Amino acid sequence: MELFEYRVTEFPITESWAYLNHAAVAPLPNRVVEAMTRFLEARRMGELGLQDEQPATEETRALAARLLHAEPDEIAFVGSTSDGLNLAAQALPLQPGDNVILCDMEFPANVYPWLNLRRKGVEVRIVPHDNGGLTPARLAEYLDGRTRVVTVSSVQFLSGFRADLAALSQLAHQAGAVLVVDAIQSLGAVPMDVRASGVDILAANGAKWLMAPIGVTVLYVRREWIERLQPPYGYYRAVVRPEPYLAYDWTLRTDARRFEPASLNVVGLYGLRAALALLLEVGIERIYAHLLDLTDRLLAGLETLGLEILTPRAREHRAGIVTCRTPDVPGDWARLKDAHILVSQREGYLRISPHFYNIPEEIDRLLEVLASGKHS
Ligand SMILES: Cc1ncc(COP(=O)(O)O)c(C=O)c1O
Repeated sequence: MELFEYRVTEFPITESWAYLNHAAVAPLPNRVVEAMTRFLEARRMGELGLQDEQPATEETRALAARLLHAEPDEIAFVGSTSDGLNLAAQALPLQPGDNVILCDMEFPANVYPWLNLRRKGVEVRIVPHDNGGLTPARLAEYLDGRTRVVTVSSVQFLSGFRADLAALSQLAHQAGAVLVVDAIQSLGAVPMDVRASGVDILAANGAKWLMAPIGVTVLYVRREWIERLQPPYGYYRAVVRPEPYLAYDWTLRTDARRFEPASLNVVGLYGLRAALALLLEVGIERIYAHLLDLTDRLLAGLETLGLEILTPRAREHRAGIVTCRTPDVPGDWARLKDAHILVSQREGYLRISPHFYNIPEEIDRLLEVLASGKHS
């Protein structure tokens, strides 16, 4: 199916809005809403029970694994990206004097879990960003024999900088460190092969580029790490033998489900299953190519308007986010909203983030509004 057809069949929001705010939260595609509605209707009548929900959860896990080029047993579902990153921070075997490296453009969700380790004597090195994110050259300056973790957003929330995960993981691994990735701003928009890019742990909430409901997060833990990570919490379904309940057999599972909270957000997972199936049907390569075309057009237009652009120009260093500063960011944001174009204001910038169903005409409309604001 053509991208334009998905726009018509899945995204009624396009009838009233040019929605360019997927880095904040995505509108739910029709089929995602329908999947959750069917689930809720069935639950209202008591028709669905654990026996139906568990296979649905496993299907969702298999789809998430496909998207990441991982194995289903390397996937756990948690609530938020923060939950996944905190779990990594607490479960990794870190000692006093070890250090964690991240850059000063990270969203706080990927900073506080690590700062929380300072009380255990772990050093957190917040290094200056390079062109909007963490580059291998910058990482190499700060890595040493006590670095145990390098953590990075695959796409930075503000600058839109896309990290070279393969190069970062190579450096991290050479130093004996793991690469932990906050993928919330890229999963669903950018192809992701965790094996090929050497990612060890990754978390991504479904609410942004995956176009799923808020509160379901895909957590990937590389097979080799699963049994070396001690879950900080004890969950009753994380064990090999959950029943009989009164057996209290605390033998942890050997797959990523050892990290999974007991009762999951099942309605959210039904939505995530539909969203993952949609993205895989459309094709992530196709989505990514379309996003680069739209953002090329946007960057060229912003340059013509002479605006300050925070996002790197090189295609390999960006994905779906373009961030710029106008002379009057709150005013321009409001003018865009009046014209039914939705973007975000972040840290004094305008952040624009289209997805695969957006069209070049919407980018042009945005540029026209910004051009008219400049002269008013
Ligand atoms: C890069 C990044 N990481 C994490 C988050 C928050 O994720 P969660 O609410 O799932 O913890 C955001 C939200 O905006 C983000 O942009």
